[in-house]
Amino acid sequence: MRRYDLETRLLHGGDYNPDQWLDYPEILAKDLELMEKVKANTFSLGIFAWSTLEPEEGVFHFDWLDKIMDDIYKMDGNVILATPSGARPAWLSQKYPEVLRTNERREKQLHGGRHNHCFSSPVYREKVGIINKKLAERYDDHPALLMWHISNEYSGDCHCTYCQENFRRWLKKKYKTLEALNKAWWGPFWSHTYSDWSQVESPSSIGETMVHGLTLDWKRFVTDQTIDFYQHEIKDIRRLTPDIPITTNFMADTNDLIPFQSLDYGKFAQHVDVISWDCYPAWHNDWGTTADLASKVGFINDQYRSLKQQPFLIMESTPSGVNWHAVNKAKRPGMHLLSSLQFIAHGSDSNLYFQWRKSRGSSEKFHGAVIDHDNSEENRVFQEVAEVGQALEKIKAVKGSNKKAKVGIIFDWDNNWALEDAQGFSQQSKRYCQTLQEHYRSFWNADIPVEVITPAFDLTKYDLVVAPMLYLIEETTMDKFAAYVAQGGHLVTTYVTGYVNETDLTYLNGWPKKLQELFGITLKETDTLYPKDRNQLEYQGNVYEIQDYCSIIQLKGAENLGSYTQDFYAQQSAVTKHKVGTGTAYFIGARTQQDFLKDFYGTLIEELDLTNPWIIKGHPDVSIQARDFDEESFYFVMNFSEKVQVIEVAEERTDLLTGERTGQTIQLQPYGVKVLH
Ligand code: GLA
Ligand code: ZN
Repeated sequence: MRRYDLETRLLHGGDYNPDQWLDYPEILAKDLELMEKVKANTFSLGIFAWSTLEPEEGVFHFDWLDKIMDDIYKMDGNVILATPSGARPAWLSQKYPEVLRTNERREKQLHGGRHNHCFSSPVYREKVGIINKKLAERYDDHPALLMWHISNEYSGDCHCTYCQENFRRWLKKKYKTLEALNKAWWGPFWSHTYSDWSQVESPSSIGETMVHGLTLDWKRFVTDQTIDFYQHEIKDIRRLTPDIPITTNFMADTNDLIPFQSLDYGKFAQHVDVISWDCYPAWHNDWGTTADLASKVGFINDQYRSLKQQPFLIMESTPSGVNWHAVNKAKRPGMHLLSSLQFIAHGSDSNLYFQWRKSRGSSEKFHGAVIDHDNSEENRVFQEVAEVGQALEKIKAVKGSNKKAKVGIIFDWDNNWALEDAQGFSQQSKRYCQTLQEHYRSFWNADIPVEVITPAFDLTKYDLVVAPMLYLIEETTMDKFAAYVAQGGHLVTTYVTGYVNETDLTYLNGWPKKLQELFGITLKETDTLYPKDRNQLEYQGNVYEIQDYCSIIQLKGAENLGSYTQDFYAQQSAVTKHKVGTGTAYFIGARTQQDFLKDFYGTLIEELDLTNPWIIKGHPDVSIQARDFDEESFYFVMNFSEKVQVIEVAEERTDLLTGERTGQTIQLQPYGVKVLH
């Protein structure tokens, strides 16, 4: 058994940078003392420590790291040991400029910042290989070593000549002949037919790339090339420490938390042993409610649990504000416990922080940390972290449990990229990621667990699959959908679905036949509305506002569930239902608001019996999420509002945080949270 699997605690701790404090022995001693006070048990070390580990080429200093690893082990802690490739020493950039990234304008970047190396550079690979191997050899049997943290937040692309060559090699493997590539990319458009492989270049704003097949393949290549670099990083590590699991920290995008845009994590997830990710929601913001943001946090956490169908780790979160949002607001009292337990509720087996201690200099000196510059345990943030440490101990029995979900929502990176490129519809209102999160919201509000998956997943375990806006859809996905519905599945899709194939070429002869048969409709037109335009939809006797997109549908066997009330398609179908085999395929033709989604999914939730009988009366702002073992469940009841809320449940339970029985009527304070068992 791996040490990680034997670990019975939830992990608490985070990014620790003792390498910044080697001249301050009193600080390092204080760190150890305070770690125990907040019940921290796990630290990520060495993430950006390359210049301390190898101050000169070939000269290695590990003694400081030996000591910290030993000290953490002595306090019964774990180390998640990082490879340092996320940032490199100046000597390396100076001696081997090829390691520096070239941007899309073909400008070689200067040394500085981080996360800016070339993924193809043979020298960078060689140097990373050497330091990684040394780390693995030195610490392979260190008793504190729990996991490997490979690099940090891989992202971005490089357009140097090495990367161009690798891109062409990738394309040759995929298309075999230039003729096939030209056909797949619709070459003659604006005379973009290539007559030699060497003419193919990565997309660039200087070249104004309009070849969508090219931009889509470039994004796929960047994912593959990043995974290839990661594979190179772990080669010796895997060989020397086969029992130590490997992760790399994933991200989400924007302060408002939409899925990560630039790498296909659906693919990347297959190469890590455990998914871990860094989550920085802008709590208490001025653009949405706390519940709005909480449901988005829920979405991404569900995605990372689903992609490997197992618990994941929060590798980084902040004890208070960050330093890189437009406004870096402090977490209000209570939010730290609530937001930390939300991670656990959705399947995390940790809450780890960036950062343990605020650095004294440079750009992150004001980023939230467990220990502030005051170095004091009287600090409010420190005390709230200590509260989380205690809570995690009290609920440690949830460790390793998963979640049982009967609803799957499909997020597809290829589709997201292709739709972003598509010139048509309306640039501002495509909102693919946000649309998925709006559909997810209906389930989150009703406390129904959801998995967020890709089209590659087996769908048969779900009673309901929701796949909005699949603009790019492969024929194999259509076949999978058809088989899923025929054998009893329920499928929902929407407007802007079924336009292009996997190389971004449109389907010919109308909406794909396979979709026509499945949904019992054909799509005649899609009307794009101006932002202020509204139409209406009549559904089950109610009228709902619709906006942005209206599909003009012709019924071909489907039942009409709702019709437009206005415009030249008034009275025509907007929402349809088609029974196929023992299942049903639904098509929502227009973009609705939350009120329609609530009612539409409400009916399905009832019909498919998706509700949890334990919850008698919930509240949209109170999120109830279960962590499940085969025979038992733990219920996290979380009030994401600034008001007292009351819910009712069928049976009373014990709150693991307070030890109290709760009764069937549960009152929650603002930001209140209970873990019931
Ligand atoms: C990222 C990085 C960390 C740190 C934090 C700040 O997640 O991985 O090193 O910069 O952001 O929020
Ligand atoms: Zn490069």
